[in-house]
Amino acid sequence: MKLKTKDLLTLAELTPNEFIGLIDDSIKLKKEFKKDGNKPILKNKILTMIFQKPSTRTRVSFEVAMYQLGGHTVNLSSNDMQLSRGESVEDTAKTLSRYSNCIMARVYDHKLLETLAENASIPVINGLSDSFHPCQILADFMTIKEKKKKLKGIKIAWIGDGNNVCNSMIYGAALSGVNMSIATPKGFEPDKTVIKEAKKTTNIELTTDPFTASKNADVVVADTFSSIHNLDKKRLQKFLPKYQVNDKLMKSAKKDAIFLHCLPAKREQEVTSSVIDGPQSVVWDEAENRLHTQKALLVALIHA
Ligand code: CP
Ligand code: NVA
Repeated sequence: MKLKTKDLLTLAELTPNEFIGLIDDSIKLKKEFKKDGNKPILKNKILTMIFQKPSTRTRVSFEVAMYQLGGHTVNLSSNDMQLSRGESVEDTAKTLSRYSNCIMARVYDHKLLETLAENASIPVINGLSDSFHPCQILADFMTIKEKKKKLKGIKIAWIGDGNNVCNSMIYGAALSGVNMSIATPKGFEPDKTVIKEAKKTTNIELTTDPFTASKNADVVVADTFSSIHNLDKKRLQKFLPKYQVNDKLMKSAKKDAIFLHCLPAKREQEVTSSVIDGPQSVVWDEAENRLHTQKALLVALIHA
């Protein structure tokens, strides 16, 4: 899949065909990997990874993806870089462009990624910012396609905080004709501009009632009530107990609804153990699919 965009920062850079194409490529790469292993299509290519925030899945899945495609990674904590002593993002982008073929960065301020992308001559991938998490949504929609055999017409219920993952999921929904109903407490809605943009092509419903959102849902999604960048300790009180995904809420969705969570999860907060460890949960496939979707993305950005 050839992409028009150099970078992937939000998902909004993609056309619907590109988004669906990446998911289909991911499914092919997964099958190929399980059968004979992947071909070394990124042989000798280097991915530089910068982390301002902790990560388990994103770091490991990118590292393993590059390795299994014949490439390598350089893994940097921003604290260990001259960035922490005031070197500009612009100069960092220009320098890293001379050593590697792609940059993946996990940051606080989304603007940092934009500056990185503007100044790097190589592709820049958002590995999570305070505002967006596009790589997660590629994996989530791949998982939905695998389980439900389609995307168009699916209803997703998002329960909890209208956060970075939710913003990217709204873009994913708009790109694939998926409908979303989003239940958040007042004041925790997703980004207004993202909603306005998505409403041009799909149905995005906002509610404060989790049961309104879960009605007829094919997919129920939870994420932490407190993202890495949220420091307010009183935050949880705004969400609990109303926005917890538990057995009662799952029962109000379709009988064959699946449960997604990007992980890491706080059991008994945003989701009960009975749901995340239960028969409707597909969170481990979802986590695995980070590997396959990122392979497809890396190939599309670096190799094409
Ligand atoms: N879902 C996700 O991005 O996980 P990590 O924070 O562990 O990378
Ligand atoms: N919304 C969460 C996602 C973690 C993968 C956060 O930003 O911390």
